[in-house]
Amino acid sequence: MENTHNFFMSKANLIGFGAIKDLTNELLAWKLKKALIVTDRNMIGLGYVDMIENMLANLFISYDIFDGVLHPNPTVSFVEAGLSFFPNRFNLLSRDYDLIISIGGGTNHDCAKGIAAVATNGGSIIDYEGYNKILEPALPHIAINTTYSAAEVTMFTIITDESRKVKMTIASPNITPFIAVNDPMFTVTMPPEVTAASGMDALCHSIEAYCATEASPLTDALAIGAAKLVFSFLPQAYENGNELKAREQMTYASIMAGMAFNNAGLGCLHSMSHQLGGFYHQVHGTYDGVLLPHIFEFNASSIPESKILKLTKAVGIPAKSKEEAVELVVAAIKKLCRDIGLPSGLKKLGVHESDIDVLAQNAVKDIASFTNPRRATLEDIKKLYLSAL
Ligand SMILES: [Fe+2]
Repeated sequence: MENTHNFFMSKANLIGFGAIKDLTNELLAWKLKKALIVTDRNMIGLGYVDMIENMLANLFISYDIFDGVLHPNPTVSFVEAGLSFFPNRFNLLSRDYDLIISIGGGTNHDCAKGIAAVATNGGSIIDYEGYNKILEPALPHIAINTTYSAAEVTMFTIITDESRKVKMTIASPNITPFIAVNDPMFTVTMPPEVTAASGMDALCHSIEAYCATEASPLTDALAIGAAKLVFSFLPQAYENGNELKAREQMTYASIMAGMAFNNAGLGCLHSMSHQLGGFYHQVHGTYDGVLLPHIFEFNASSIPESKILKLTKAVGIPAKSKEEAVELVVAAIKKLCRDIGLPSGLKKLGVHESDIDVLAQNAVKDIASFTNPRRATLEDIKKLYLSAL
């Protein structure tokens, strides 16, 4: 019986309060000379970029800063603006930079992945839409993380192609950051609405990975562990951003959920959420929270009863039957969304019914849906958008 599961992750993961200090040793070991920092002005204002600049200066690593990333979604234009720092990128003997350091959340890491990929593979980031199209290793990339999006530990980058209003999902082990830094101290400055959206994104990563067709016992353990932590600690992290235990536990939840989906895959929720982001440009996690109850109910018929019961038991809402379990999970997700101030319908996020046909057509092409446990037709996706409206 052949049943294999490859497991990809960053080469080094520095995790926990104070982990940022360990980056010095890693940088020394890799003997890198010139870095491009990819970030945004908010990260500069918060002092995080200064901290890394000092570290690089002490190690005699020279650097430049590209701070042109704007939120909430990385675009083809941002990747191209970052690539303008690489006039010699096709000259292997005199590369402009031997390292990219992204500081921030998923938007900054995804933009940096796009820059790192094109810097060594050539062409345009648009050429790499889909799975495994990036054939050469990207430029070495260190991701210093400040949210719960998990982009710092994954092989995925989601880049908006403004000309088509489409969010491209690009996946390749070649763009996984080689060092991921998750120091929870960098997350305490996240405002409540960002905590809520990216925390909900972590829950969606865990539940989609748990239900995905490529799930394995390894990814299941990570996904269940992550879901349990999100239900327990996200409300506290939202209520009081300085609650350090909640921040620490949410950081672990985010990493575990990221490792789970990086290897098990995602599902329809992410393909639908991506396309909403490409169209209306709101924060990814807010769409996720609205969609999750609907997608979970839709997928339930394709998930074994024992698996659903294991999930409900782990998150502290034990049920006696599959039907009861689905009801309880949906109710728990809706309650969590209310508790952290997320809307209950897509209309409140500016989504128009008249756009659903185009959104659904884009979503069925998104590779995130390829590992959805239940086959979803174009009509199914339209109905799911409508039910979440
Ligand atoms: Fe996500």
